[in-house]
Amino acid sequence: MSEKVNELNGVPRTLLLPLRGRADEQAHPHPLFQDPLAVEWLKLLGWDRELDALYPQGSKAFSIVAAIRTYHHDQIASCHIANHSHPVVVELGAGLSSRFHRIGKNAYRWLELDLPVVTELRCKLDTQTQQHQFISSSVLDFDWMDTLPNVAPENILFIAEGLLMYLEVNEVQQLISVMRSRFPGATLDLEVLGLSTKIYNKIFAQIGAPLKWFVKNQEDLTSMGLQVVNAWSMYQLHLERWPWYWKLLLRFLTQFSYFRNAYLIIETKL
Ligand SMILES: C[S@@+](CC[C@H](N)C(=O)[O-])C[C@H]1O[C@@H](n2cnc3c(N)ncnc32)[C@H](O)[C@@H]1O
Repeated sequence: MSEKVNELNGVPRTLLLPLRGRADEQAHPHPLFQDPLAVEWLKLLGWDRELDALYPQGSKAFSIVAAIRTYHHDQIASCHIANHSHPVVVELGAGLSSRFHRIGKNAYRWLELDLPVVTELRCKLDTQTQQHQFISSSVLDFDWMDTLPNVAPENILFIAEGLLMYLEVNEVQQLISVMRSRFPGATLDLEVLGLSTKIYNKIFAQIGAPLKWFVKNQEDLTSMGLQVVNAWSMYQLHLERWPWYWKLLLRFLTQFSYFRNAYLIIETKL
């Protein structure tokens, strides 16, 4: 199975970063969530040493961010499932997300969309059922939208966790525009990177996954026609998870919008 990791190039390779973050969280004395599958899948696949620059041994920053963002999207999805009659969750750029197994049992349908190389890998690790299905497609080949279950759009939650920053701004604009015309009233839960995050681009470019889309603030989303319902700065969530010196630094830096907007989770309506 570990040879499969070598087939991942470019952006698909980055799926190992959050997978490892979720697996590492299981070693925390008080994990934010239980994810035995992440531990199992990472063990089967092995780690790609070339990603060490982004996930250095000994540095806790990436695993803390991965755990917090996973937990936060879990909460948004759980709330959506609890409040809709036919809740459908569509993870866009799903990677090896194991969210369905953590919190998805009461969803009407749960769909994992990713590029063919990733869906092939998932098929080796995970099992499709009528409730839990995999879509092998680029998010930019809009035919995938025809495969969604026929429910009122308010029932649909799209999660774009760690995806849109790898797309060009015009690709994001076109995707959102088509989704708005096809699923008006659906929820899109997305992550965006701010301008201060551009400093990491060199490292991401070195592993073949350059970051392409950065926003100045939430208005960049409203100007695309999205209605912002909630917005959270990653660096203001679960501060108790950070070592004390990080906590102090983050408290100070996030007073300034340039840093507060460095990494946002935003819940929007299409
Ligand atoms: C950083 S990973 C995030 C994976 C997952 N959402 C998570 O948080 O564990 C980025 C994912 O986006 C996928 N991706 C990149 N471009 C894509 C595209 N055009 N269409 C669908 N998926 C894409 C990659 O294959 C990869 O699995």
